[in-house]
Amino acid sequence: MKGKLEFEKIVKRRTELDMKQSELAEAACVSINIVRSVEIGRSESSIEALSKICDVLGLKLNEIYNPDFKNTKIISFVNNKGGVGKTSLCAAIGCILAEQDYNVLFIDFDMQMNLTRSLGMEKQDKHLGVAIEKEHDLSSYIYKTKYANVDIIVSDPSMAIIDMQLFTKINRESIVKYGLKSIIDKGIYDFIICDTNPVLGILNYNVLNVTNYVVIPIELEIFSIYGLDTLINYIENVKKNNEKLKIAGIVVNKYDLREKTITETCEKVVTNLFGDKVFKTRIGVDTKLKQSQFDSEPVIYAQKNSRISRQYRELTKELITVVNEK
Ligand SMILES: Nc1ncnc2c1ncn2[C@@H]1O[C@H](COP(=O)(O)OP(=O)(O)O)[C@@H](O)[C@H]1O
Ligand SMILES: [Mg+2]
Repeated sequence: MKGKLEFEKIVKRRTELDMKQSELAEAACVSINIVRSVEIGRSESSIEALSKICDVLGLKLNEIYNPDFKNTKIISFVNNKGGVGKTSLCAAIGCILAEQDYNVLFIDFDMQMNLTRSLGMEKQDKHLGVAIEKEHDLSSYIYKTKYANVDIIVSDPSMAIIDMQLFTKINRESIVKYGLKSIIDKGIYDFIICDTNPVLGILNYNVLNVTNYVVIPIELEIFSIYGLDTLINYIENVKKNNEKLKIAGIVVNKYDLREKTITETCEKVVTNLFGDKVFKTRIGVDTKLKQSQFDSEPVIYAQKNSRISRQYRELTKELITVVNEK
C-alpha cells in the first residue's frame, strides 16, 4: 500500500482507551499481527483492516492515512570527473520516470546550467544559488517545465563561488537538507533527481547528505577508472552522516566497441572492482544526444525511439528495481 500512515496516532488513541493490542485486534476482527504491523508504520495492511481499526478507535481513516502521500526518493548523479554523462543521464532518467507518471523534481546543482538548459529552461531570478546563500526553504524556488510531471529548481552561473559561501555557514553540510525538508514532508514528489558539479566540495557534500541513491556514470577509459576510488571514499565518508545513502550503481556510458581492446579491458577492471553494482545496460555513443541538447529538448522526447532512448529506458528499469529493493 502506498502513501503515509500516521501510526503514532493509532498507538496514542489505543493507549488513551487503555486497550491492549490483542483487545484492539479482537474488537476490530483483524489479526494481532495486523495491529502490530500497523502500529510500527507498516502500511502493507489493507484499507479494509485499517478502517476496522479506525472504527474501533473512533478515528477517521483520512486522519491517519494519506494515500496520495509520496515517499520521496532522492537520486543523485555524481562523479567528480567532468564529461562522463552525469547531466545527460540525469535528464534522461528523470524524464523517463516522469513519462511513467512519477512526479519528478529536478535540481541543478551545477553552475554550468546544463541540466537547466536541457529541460528548455533559462536563467531565473529565483535560482538555487540564492536559496542556498539565504538558507531558504526550497519549495518557493520550484518552476514548472513544459513537460508533464517535471518541475525544476534551476542553477545559475553565479553559483561558481557557492562552496566559499557555504564554508562560513554553521550548518554548512546540511543547508540543502533543511531547504528540502518541507518539500519532502508534503510528499508531492516521487523522485527528486539531482545533477551535480564535478567537484567533491561542500555543495556536493550537501547533495549526498540528503541523497538516497547515488548513480555514478563512468566511461570505459583509464582516467575515468583512476578517479573512482577517491569518489567512493568521499561517498563512504558522507555515509557517516547519512545512513540512508546507497550507491545504486555504476553506469557505463559512451560504450564504444570501436576501441575494442581498451573498452573490454576497462570493462573487466570495473566489473572486478564493483561486481553487480555495475548496471547491465550500457549506454552507447549516440550523436542524437548532442543534437537534442543543442535543441534544448531531452532526447527521450525528441528522439523517442532512438537507440540511446531505448537504452536509457532499459537503464531506468534497472534503477527502479534497485530503488524498490528493501
Ligand atoms: N552516450 C553518449 N553518446 C554521445 N555523447 C554523449 C553521451 N553521453 C554524454 N555525451 C556527451 O558528452 C558530453 C558530456 O556529457 P554530460 O552529460 O554533460 O557530462 P557531465 O555532466 O558528466 O559533465 C556532452 O556533450 C554530451 O552530449
Ligand atoms: Mg554536467
